[in-house]
Amino acid sequence: MEVKSTVKIGILQFDPVPGDIKANIKKIDRLFETVQDADILVLPELASSGYNFKSKEEAFNSSESISDSLFIDFLIQKAKELNTWFVSGINERENNKLYNSAVLISPDGLEGIYRKMHLFNREKLFFEPGNTGLPIFETPFGLVGILICFDWMFPELWRVLALKGAQIICHPSNLVLPFCQSAIPGYALTNRIFIATANRVGTERDLTFTGQSVLVNPNGEYLLRGDHRNEEVLTADINPELAENKQMTLLNDAFDDRRTDFYSIEVNEDHETMKREKKILRKKIQKRKKQYNEDQLKTIGQDAMAQLEDTKEFKEAKTIFIYWSLPDEVPTHELIEKYRKEKRFILPRVVGDFLELREFTGIESLEQGNSFGIQEPTGPVFSDFTSIDLAVIPGLAFTRNGHRLGRGGGYYDRTLPFLENATKTGVAFPFQMVARVPFDTHDIPLDKVIAAHKTH
Ligand code: ACM
Repeated sequence: MEVKSTVKIGILQFDPVPGDIKANIKKIDRLFETVQDADILVLPELASSGYNFKSKEEAFNSSESISDSLFIDFLIQKAKELNTWFVSGINERENNKLYNSAVLISPDGLEGIYRKMHLFNREKLFFEPGNTGLPIFETPFGLVGILICFDWMFPELWRVLALKGAQIICHPSNLVLPFCQSAIPGYALTNRIFIATANRVGTERDLTFTGQSVLVNPNGEYLLRGDHRNEEVLTADINPELAENKQMTLLNDAFDDRRTDFYSIEVNEDHETMKREKKILRKKIQKRKKQYNEDQLKTIGQDAMAQLEDTKEFKEAKTIFIYWSLPDEVPTHELIEKYRKEKRFILPRVVGDFLELREFTGIESLEQGNSFGIQEPTGPVFSDFTSIDLAVIPGLAFTRNGHRLGRGGGYYDRTLPFLENATKTGVAFPFQMVARVPFDTHDIPLDKVIAAHKTH
């Protein structure tokens, strides 16, 4: 998906009619008429139903299931008509359970759902705590994350979404306390992301909502601030790509400088989410890679190989497991050729689901394999895994503390456990270094990652 560099993003605040979905559709529809050419609009929490329910029964009466929802049908129809994406709160019913949810809607339909994790006050009487985790979504405006209202109190959520690559966090809200609007700039600044908080206005029973919806940029500056009681839609143009740059000074990067050797943030997510997010990350890295031609990649990659060559582990290694690089990988051919008389190089060959290891016995002994178009060794099969003292591992993305994302076949994940005595070293282009890679607990982290310098 190509990401647009100028995106018109809007925050809509209104005073819903409690319990009346049709009336709220009408109100929102009228407010849409005041906006032109928005790319994405964020609506408040529980925009379909209002907020301050007397009882679970009352909450139930204005809930809808995702598959049968007037409110979602309306948003999809408007998304098509206006060519606009929406993030909106909705009172969601699933069987007998209610969730305080938000939907992401595009002109193609429903793109995703997030269920509020941190329920505020009496919401705990009506709603189940969210069980969707913290998904990120691909949009033409970059990667989008969603949080709902009181979720804002938990810094881990903003951080996790930002580490996952979210460039914009949409934040449908029904805020009654006065604190959030002044906390948002801090979250936007420390995570270097855009945040759009759409907060409702009005009074329902004993609760008055604080309005003042905000849009904040990665410098923590307010781009938009709504009125404290007017119903309105405000829009501004942003460039979501700015959220890709976490650098603070020439020598400081908000993400790279984190001391993950002393602290880190744990994310529990299911296998499906992880698979989805690996796919998103792979696409993102492939897109970055496409900005370079083969010669440029080779020049950049040679810097990583020069660093590798200079390590104690390489100098001392007698048997090295390494890959024979493809044109879009950090190039290994020259290093192998240069040292082939002094060291033993072992290359992988794909056999079924596994890598068979074979000795490199010269370029003429390589042949085109069946998988990925890789040149594979035809030398003798090598099974003395424990004699391998250095393993040089390719990948699509790496973190500084050794987590790796491969192409998706899992070949290296299955091989690494056998290389007990090897220093497992990833080699990377600078654009392959990321803040976070989804990893399973059984994944073996690499001992180190060598990234080419950015100066090319
Ligand atoms: C809130 O979470 N609606 C305050």
